[in-house]
Amino acid sequence: MQHLNITFIGGGNMAEALISGLIHSGHKASKICVSDIKETRLDELNQQYAIRTELSNITAITNTDVLLLAVKPQQMDVVLAGIADYLAENMTIISIAAGLGMVRLQRYLNADKVGLVRVMPNTPALVGEGMSVLFSDADDMHKQRAEYVLATSGETAWVDEEKLLHAVTAVSGSGPAYFFLLAEVMQATGESLGLPKALAAKLAAQTAVGSGKMLVESGRNAADLRAQVTSPGGTTQAALDEMYECGLPRAIRSGVTAAAKRSKDLAI
Ligand SMILES: NC(=O)c1ccc[n+]([C@@H]2O[C@H](COP(=O)([O-])OP(=O)(O)OC[C@H]3O[C@@H](n4cnc5c(N)ncnc54)[C@H](OP(=O)(O)O)[C@@H]3O)[C@@H](O)[C@H]2O)c1
Repeated sequence: MQHLNITFIGGGNMAEALISGLIHSGHKASKICVSDIKETRLDELNQQYAIRTELSNITAITNTDVLLLAVKPQQMDVVLAGIADYLAENMTIISIAAGLGMVRLQRYLNADKVGLVRVMPNTPALVGEGMSVLFSDADDMHKQRAEYVLATSGETAWVDEEKLLHAVTAVSGSGPAYFFLLAEVMQATGESLGLPKALAAKLAAQTAVGSGKMLVESGRNAADLRAQVTSPGGTTQAALDEMYECGLPRAIRSGVTAAAKRSKDLAI
């Protein structure tokens, strides 16, 4: 896969996360191109990663094998209309735009000619720990190319129905914010109990890192791990009893469900 020419349209945060992942995995900078409407942003990306940059989307996609669309959903129509006549046969086109469905993409892109893949990534991709969920009806070559690009910035998984991306958005797309809220409240409470601000922040952050690693590496599920650290009558038990009493699990369930509903409502 390292021979592929990969172009990003839109050089924002998510594009940078994926570019950084590709470079760190050994993909040659000379095989990566990014286009953006802001010259200053292109200069930054060129200085940081030594990749090719273009102000013109059409010039950027010349000789591209994989095109990653990384502009905001509301910017996508302009981008697609501008490049639709310049796509090479068999190009793999990956869209990470939230809520922008295949039907909308196909309005501009001929799915018989190119391979379309939709992806819902999340921001931990910025530190190489992303969770990207992919959906595509295209053939295996396109799926493998998309998997290759996304796997350089974290874990990947596939869904076989596009509508499941709403649930994915609710769990992993918006999910980092739920963990940040938990850390924020833990830190603030630690401070109100007398801890210095920096120490309270460190305790919340490192507890999140350690717990996340245990979830991924221990081979045990979340409920088991929670039971393991909850001695009957102990401090953790006291905390969890109070959290259940205050309705925390119900609040999380209705929050995640609200995110899925919002994703459906916003879908275009
Ligand atoms: N961030 C997340 O947590 C997250 C998670 C999952 C999916 N996504 C999806 O990822 C996509 C990118 O998000 P982001 O946060 O990286 O956005 P972003 O930082 O706004 O990056 C988009 C970049 O594209 C530029 N742009 C606008 N119009 C353009 C055009 N016609 N041609 C070329 N470049 C153009 C923008 O310039 P201006 O700033 O001047 O407009 C900006 O630099 C979005 O569709 C979003 O839905 C994001």
